[in-house]
Amino acid sequence: MRTVRWIAYGLVVVVVAAVALVWVQRGGLSGFNAARIGVSVPGGVSVGGPFTLVNGQGKTVTDADFRGRFMLVYFGYTFCPDVCPTDLQLMTNAMELLGKDAARVAPIFITVDPARDTPQVIGEYTKLFSDKLVGLTGTPEQIAAAARAYRVYYAKASSAQSTTYLMDHSSFIYLMGPDGKLSALFSQGTTAKDLADGIRAKLAGTS
Ligand code: NI
Repeated sequence: MRTVRWIAYGLVVVVVAAVALVWVQRGGLSGFNAARIGVSVPGGVSVGGPFTLVNGQGKTVTDADFRGRFMLVYFGYTFCPDVCPTDLQLMTNAMELLGKDAARVAPIFITVDPARDTPQVIGEYTKLFSDKLVGLTGTPEQIAAAARAYRVYYAKASSAQSTTYLMDHSSFIYLMGPDGKLSALFSQGTTAKDLADGIRAKLAGTS
């Protein structure tokens, strides 16, 4: 049994090394240099893209509606017990720190749980943080397409009871430029000040 286990470990090491090698050859960290405190995206990987979703008032919203402004995008779900509220509060605090520059940025919360996050649910939820926070939902297909474009992973974590399940989801904060392209990527654990500074640096580059 021990031999089998070591062979399995060896295989994992080989696979990880191969993936790392391919990634480095394709540009690695040098391909995309996000904001100072941001996260780097491997070169050649496109993040973001068109979406057609529904806002808290039941109105259809597309990415084109935000063109000319930055979008601060976060994917999550309103039933999330901890991570999403923390990150949405972080975004809200960063927006406040931006002062009048905040007018150039649209904070957006896109649900990965359209089954429970109806337009009304997401509209009421985002108001708990800020009137400026745009909550978006849609059909499962619309959400899947948006998540795919943003390289968001999400899945139901538990299906013991149909209405009380949790969702696993990746939790990056995306800063999209006025052209709709990725400007910077922020990970969990960023402070509101660092997030605001990172956004301001990008705003300065495009004013
Ligand atoms: Ni969450």
